[in-house]
Amino acid sequence: MALVPYVENPLPALSKLHSASAQFRFADHELRLSQDWKKLGVAAVVWDAAVVMCMYLELGEVELKGKAVIELGAGTGLVGIVAALLGAAVTITDRQPALEFLSANVKANLPPDTRGSASVSELSWGQGLDLYPAGGFDLVLGADIVYLEDTFVPLLRTLEHLCSDATAVLLACKIRYARDTDFLGMLRQRFAVEEAHYDQQRDIHIYKAWKLPPREDL
Ligand SMILES: C[S@@+](CC[C@H](N)C(=O)[O-])C[C@H]1O[C@@H](n2cnc3c(N)ncnc32)[C@H](O)[C@@H]1O
Repeated sequence: MALVPYVENPLPALSKLHSASAQFRFADHELRLSQDWKKLGVAAVVWDAAVVMCMYLELGEVELKGKAVIELGAGTGLVGIVAALLGAAVTITDRQPALEFLSANVKANLPPDTRGSASVSELSWGQGLDLYPAGGFDLVLGADIVYLEDTFVPLLRTLEHLCSDATAVLLACKIRYARDTDFLGMLRQRFAVEEAHYDQQRDIHIYKAWKLPPREDL
């Protein structure tokens, strides 16, 4: 059964999601990500948001060298892999059923001397957050993780836990439904949010966010 069924009857335009692999060149490396839509659904295909995020990271506008980075909802792991290749120490996370496939992709695409810079672990939003250091990351990355209304509150709680006031959050988003902008509204209650990049061809927005100081409600 698919982890999170997203498109029951995919259109031909989505056929690239049904290929057994997707290939890219990022950070001077040829990358080949295995895909398995039938078995694992949305977590086992590379989404455009991940590709645009990698293109943005390559621009060098966000410092990655030596930074502690965590990726949420990593799926195939493309973003975390590219962040590691660009010099970050990356914790690449997803829900438990996605981890075996994710780990295999990470292992297959990182050269041995970079493998130590990436670890794969379970993070189901809002759960077991104590396993991750509060405010312990320089950068939180998420590509196409804003799409399930039920997850908005736990996702926000996860971001609040992981971020200090010095942590930057980068979310690559495809805005498909009005509810997706609802999440941005929720995010703006706790974080300062700006659009850092827009890829017109793929219609992907990259939002950058920083935690706001705690509100002193009267
Ligand atoms: C649309 S896919 C994006 C995958 C990858 N980031 C990409 O852009 O190629 C959404 C990802 O979020 C993960 N996800 C969904 N709900 C989640 C939850 N409650 N906790 C953690 N991850 C979740 C899915 O397993 C999936 O990997």
